[in-house]
Amino acid sequence: MIYLPREDSYLLKKWVEKLAHGDVLDMGTGTGIQAFAAAPKAKKVIAVDKNPEAIEYCKNAFHIFENVEFRESDLFSNVPEKFDFIIFNPPYLPESKYDKEIDTTGGKEGWETIAKFLKEAKKHLNKKGQIVMVFSSLTNPKKVLEVAKKLGYKAKLLDKKHINFEDIFVYEFSI
Ligand SMILES: C[S@@+](CC[C@H](N)C(=O)[O-])C[C@H]1O[C@@H](n2cnc3c(N)ncnc32)[C@H](O)[C@@H]1O
Repeated sequence: MIYLPREDSYLLKKWVEKLAHGDVLDMGTGTGIQAFAAAPKAKKVIAVDKNPEAIEYCKNAFHIFENVEFRESDLFSNVPEKFDFIIFNPPYLPESKYDKEIDTTGGKEGWETIAKFLKEAKKHLNKKGQIVMVFSSLTNPKKVLEVAKKLGYKAKLLDKKHINFEDIFVYEFSI
C-alpha cells in the first residue's frame, strides 16, 4: 500500500515549495509528492522509501523532472550523500492493535522512527542545511523536541493546523 497524500502532506508541501534548495533528500517519499514539489527549486532530489511498491510507483509515474532520482532505502541505509535540504513526512502515530502500518506508525509511542532519523540525519546535512518535518500532537511533540535538542538541533515551528482530533506541526531543524 502506498500512502496517498493527506492534510499532513499538503501542509508540508507548502513549506517545501517555499524553502527547498540545493541538494535535496525526500525521506519516505510515498507517491513522490514532496520530491516533485522540491524539484523545480532543487539542484538534485534523491527520494527514498522503505516500501518498494512506492519506489516502483514513482519510477513509473513520473518522468517530468530529470533531476529526481528514486531509490529504495530504510532511512539512510542506501543513502551515502549529504544534503542542503532534507524533507520527511514520517510515520508518526503510536502503534495500536488496529494500526501497525509502516506508512503511519512510528513505533510503540510514535516518535521512535523520528528519533532514529534525526540521529542519522546529522551526518547527512551540509553546513547550514535544514530539515523540514511534519508530525502530530499524537506523536508526543515534547519528546520529539527533547530528542532533537539532545542531538544538538535548533528547532523552529513553521506551521500548525488543527484537523479533526489532532494538531499537525511543521518544524524546521538545523544544526
Ligand atoms: C506518512 S507517509 C508520507 C508519504 C509522502 N512523503 C507524503 O508526504 O505524502 C510516510 C512514508 O515513509 C515511508 N517509510 C516508513 N518508514 C520508513 C523508513 N524506515 N525508511 C524510509 N521510508 C520509510 C513509508 O513507506 C511512507 O511512504
